Amino acid sequence: MKKTSFALAGLVALGASFSALADQFEDAIQYRKAAFSLFKANLGPMGAMAEGKMPFDKAAFAARAANLEALAKMPWEHFIEGSDMGDTKSKPEVWSKAKDYKVEVDKFEAAATKLAAVAKGGDEKAMKAAFGATAKTCKSCHDGFKNK
Ligand code: HEC
Repeated sequence: MKKTSFALAGLVALGASFSALADQFEDAIQYRKAAFSLFKANLGPMGAMAEGKMPFDKAAFAARAANLEALAKMPWEHFIEGSDMGDTKSKPEVWSKAKDYKVEVDKFEAAATKLAAVAKGGDEKAMKAAFGATAKTCKSCHDGFKNK
């Protein structure tokens, strides 16, 4: 009898730690998606300005670029090992080709840093070019590491 209840207690504890892990993975997925949503919320208006769908407002553009630079490091810590299942569009390559993924991360961060610096300068043509270069790095990573 005693043995069974020990075994049971062990099973219950195991179950609890599995579900704590599952929560941790779900949180990680939610956090990185939230960060990416904020990427989009800032990239979108810059894109509209760059493409002439919105009046080009240098100060607003620079503020968006500064936001993106501040956000740029936020998603990555939430790609924890094991969070490749559930409500996620991340491809398994994020983990299986971690080095290549890091290359994409670095390209994006460099582009976002440059975009913010160029935007402070206020040269519209350079701002549009730096925007295009940044948007390319989003796409390049999505092509290899994000499901549609
Ligand atoms: C280094 C790779 C990488 C870069 C750079 C990157 N993304 Fe993503 N993005 C991903 C991955 C992976 C996902 C899938 C996240 C998930 O569902 O787990 C994603 C998801 C998203 C989503 C969907 C979020 C959701 O709620 O499902 C949006 C929007 C997004 N990215 C926008 C952007 C924008 C805009 C940029 C550039 C400013 C960008 N991303 C740069 C890898 C990247």
